[in-house]
Amino acid sequence: MITFSNVSKIYESTGKKVTAVDHVNMSVEEGEICVFLGPSGCGKTTLLRMVNRLVQITEGSIEIDGKDIQALDSIELRRSIGYVIQQNGLFPNMTIEENINVVPKMLGWDAGKRKNRYKELMEMMGLNPEEFRKRFPWELSGGQQQRIGVARALAADPPVMLMDEPFGALDPIIRDHLQNEFLRIQKDVKKTILFVSHDIDEAIRLGDKIAIFNQGQLMQVGTPDQILSDPKNEFVRDFIGSDREIKRLTLLTVKDLLNKGKKGNRKSNLTAEINEFYVTLDTDLRNALAVLLASPTGEAVIVDQRNQPHGILTFTDYELLTGVHPSKLKSIVH
Ligand SMILES: Nc1ncnc2c1ncn2[C@@H]1O[C@H](COP(=O)(O)OP(=O)(O)OP(=O)(O)O)[C@@H](O)[C@H]1O
Ligand SMILES: [Mg+2]
Repeated sequence: MITFSNVSKIYESTGKKVTAVDHVNMSVEEGEICVFLGPSGCGKTTLLRMVNRLVQITEGSIEIDGKDIQALDSIELRRSIGYVIQQNGLFPNMTIEENINVVPKMLGWDAGKRKNRYKELMEMMGLNPEEFRKRFPWELSGGQQQRIGVARALAADPPVMLMDEPFGALDPIIRDHLQNEFLRIQKDVKKTILFVSHDIDEAIRLGDKIAIFNQGQLMQVGTPDQILSDPKNEFVRDFIGSDREIKRLTLLTVKDLLNKGKKGNRKSNLTAEINEFYVTLDTDLRNALAVLLASPTGEAVIVDQRNQPHGILTFTDYELLTGVHPSKLKSIVH
């Protein structure tokens, strides 16, 4: 667990003081992804870099598993924390393999162990180890470089990862792909991750928890659902946008909807054949909505994992349970 207690950072440059982080209190559980979200200059990178002491804390304290980071040796600390730098920060004069092996080498791993780890990480990232081994960062696409940045941070298998906009500056399709891969990998590795983003959609998708900052102050911290359903103040409301109800729909699945109310789960009187207007239990509610709107009867058959009919989802159930009004529905799926 990472705990921030009254953490502040004041930079002093040319006699002027800038409060970059202002009395932040929050904690992140083990194995959780917490997204630091907020506009440019709100202090996200500063807060992140205080965790591995690349930035000195002005006031307050940060604890990792109950240990004050100030009391730890800073080199040791940095080795136990993976860090993906904003703009990937690969060393341009090192090959891909050398880049990935920076920390294992510092830790004194022998050549065989490093080689195996390189291979394992490249495979995890979906990149061919042999093809990239001797290449230099500039010989890779932006998306590949970002993946190497993530692999490098994972190399020594640190329990904590700091990721500063690791998928920033990528086109939406590659970004989407990397986010999916990232979630898949996290399922296996279960790191405690602090992830910086300024993109609300990315935060909703990746975060177990989202912390929203403005001018160094923590505005709100909570699960994506809590933030979207109950924004605490004007800033948060503006930042997440007017379509927050619709964004919330991507967090829930048909299964959640069925659990919420008995109405959608009319298994007993199910007579419908499975046709093209069907949803699965795992379909998110935004996609389910698109199916409902396209269906001439306003109904969709719910199929289970074995492709057997499970129930019928109607437009009325949907509206009743999500509280999303029909007037809003059409514009969002087209
Ligand atoms: N080394 C520094 N010296 C003085 N001021 C700094 C320094 N680093 C950052 N700042 C200031 O601190 C504030 C927070 O900066 P920070 O880089 O943490 O923001 P950020 O949220 O990461 O922004 P971005 O989304 O643009 O990366 C800004 O006002 C910035 O100008
Ligand atoms: Mg930053």
